[in-house]
Amino acid sequence: MSSDFAFAGPFKEVKGSPIRELFKYLSRPGMISFAGGYPAPELFDIEGLQQSIEAESTRLSSTLSYGATEGLPALREALATLSARRGIPAGPDDILVTSGSQQGYDLLLRALIEPGDTALIERPAYPAAIQGLRLAGANIVTVSVNEDGVNLDELSHALQRHKPKLFYCVPTFANPTGICLSLEKRQKLLALLAQSDCLLIEDDPYGALRFSGETIPSLMELAQTGTAKDRIIYLSSLSKTVAPGLRIGWMIAHPDILRRCVLAKQVNDMCSAPFMQAVAARYLNTGRYQQHLQLITGTYRQRAQCMLATFDRELDGSLQLIRPEGGMFIWGTLPQGMEAAKLLTLAIDENVMFVPGPGFYADHANQGAFRLSFATSNEEKITEGVRRFKQAIDRY
Ligand SMILES: Cc1ncc(COP(=O)(O)O)c(C=O)c1O
Repeated sequence: MSSDFAFAGPFKEVKGSPIRELFKYLSRPGMISFAGGYPAPELFDIEGLQQSIEAESTRLSSTLSYGATEGLPALREALATLSARRGIPAGPDDILVTSGSQQGYDLLLRALIEPGDTALIERPAYPAAIQGLRLAGANIVTVSVNEDGVNLDELSHALQRHKPKLFYCVPTFANPTGICLSLEKRQKLLALLAQSDCLLIEDDPYGALRFSGETIPSLMELAQTGTAKDRIIYLSSLSKTVAPGLRIGWMIAHPDILRRCVLAKQVNDMCSAPFMQAVAARYLNTGRYQQHLQLITGTYRQRAQCMLATFDRELDGSLQLIRPEGGMFIWGTLPQGMEAAKLLTLAIDENVMFVPGPGFYADHANQGAFRLSFATSNEEKITEGVRRFKQAIDRY
């Protein structure tokens, strides 16, 4: 139903997230979903989190009020320690606690983007990142990705031609592709950045979920010794490694940028829920986080291997699949001429779900691409889900 409310420009014709549209099928009995980018709930460290919640419940008078917009000192300290472990030498004052890393992104868009400003984004990319730019009225320019990350020739060309204000990327185990930008490309990317005025948002919710291969330093870590350092903004989150319901993320950036984001957060939610921040700080300080990471990465390794092996067995190489070394996703391409959206309709009949690729593109969508999450289903469900996927392909 249309109305004549005077919505702001980008909200007039706004479309919802393609992934959220799939929610209605999730409750179908027996549905196996490879669609959502959710961490597996059975792997949450319930015992550890409960202990932290119980301990914090005895000192509620200090966490039931408003807290500092920048974040609880205890959590900023704990996140500084975590950052040091990731090779990023940030002190508590360099960290802004956000309500999920997505809020960090939104604050940055408010502080940096005016309608008509150009922003670069990977193709394909995280849909909320595309949507954020659209709602901010940005001129979006996309740069394609190869199996070792963003195409640097295209990036170099886009930097020179469009003089963008920012480049948003997920270099480590991207959503949706699972791709990890190679070390060589990271270094070249930083060199390109050093010759431009572009800011780079490194969104890193999945980097800690490496389950095979060698660790590759984040762009923020690599930039510490170079001239591009001040132009990297690092976002991360506890959503994929601890629990998304905590809504705890953080930003590390130049103090001038952080300060603007604090002002933007003051008129947004004032502060992230202090109780949850206190729980997160206590949890991180128990040392259970590192142990928990081992458990989830071990499980995700098995699930990813199971999904890939079952596809190899059932479909005999007829799909192109990118084999990730971490994160939560496998990105695939159907044989020439097949469309993922059509296949999804058949797959839903078979009681299996995935996300068709086009929703991840700001432009030039690949109709044959699709995203599978291996994180949320156990191996039995993965095997059965892939079998159903094959049935849908056979019926196509
Ligand atoms: C690339 C990327 N960035 C950010 C987010 C949001 O994370 P958070 O829960 O920390 O807001 C997600 C969640 O799916 C994501 O895939």
